[in-house]
Amino acid sequence: MNLSPLIAALDVENAKEAQRLVDELSPYVDIFKVGHPLFMRYGYEVTDYITGKGKKVFLDVKLHDIPNTVYLAVKAAREKGIFMLTLHASGGRKMIEHARKAKGEGFPLLLSVTVLTSMDEKQLKEIGILKNPEEQVIHLAELAVSAGSDGIVCSPNEVKPLRERLKKDAIIVTPGIRPEENGKKDDQKRTATPKKAIEMGADFIVVGRPLYKSAYPAQKAKQILESIEM
Ligand code: C5P
Repeated sequence: MNLSPLIAALDVENAKEAQRLVDELSPYVDIFKVGHPLFMRYGYEVTDYITGKGKKVFLDVKLHDIPNTVYLAVKAAREKGIFMLTLHASGGRKMIEHARKAKGEGFPLLLSVTVLTSMDEKQLKEIGILKNPEEQVIHLAELAVSAGSDGIVCSPNEVKPLRERLKKDAIIVTPGIRPEENGKKDDQKRTATPKKAIEMGADFIVVGRPLYKSAYPAQKAKQILESIEM
């Protein structure tokens, strides 16, 4: 499968706006990420639009529940033609194994989230995790992949250590991408340019605001892809 490494995050609240972005970005983007904001409002309306256009859906709903419930949720996503789906690695081995069983060798590809980038050491301690965030990310990523996760979503900082430790075909997806070295970071703390993220070993980069807040999203997407190839 030869897919564009650029995943567009559709973090907008309106289905029409999401559809316009899909149409505009389609020459450069094969996978569109739909998260809670759109999914809670429209359910599969937007994802069906994306698949109807021949594009793929990354459903970012970070599943975290008992194994049987996650099994049923992944089965539904499989039947709905979802291409990538996120789950929390902290749900544990049994939960991930059940997710894997629900989709077998097919789709959706299961991507595990380790430590949310909004969590720092202090907040981790508060919920009883004594490892520092980096150690915890590596610990959970290794657990997730060994339990059947196809890959990991991680910050640019973690791409290199995870690429070195995880098996070669583990998929690494990274958000926190900012096209300009000294550009606006918004609420992202650890960022990297698209080129840097790919060089460090990411298979896909997720880009939200730099695309959907741009006056010319397609032009921006083209520039991002060109910057990776340079
Ligand atoms: O707008 P921006 O490019 O920062 O969007 C990044 C996207 O990646 C958002 O959809 C955000 O929810 C998601 N994400 C993230 N950090 C994570 C996991 C997901 O920014 N650790």
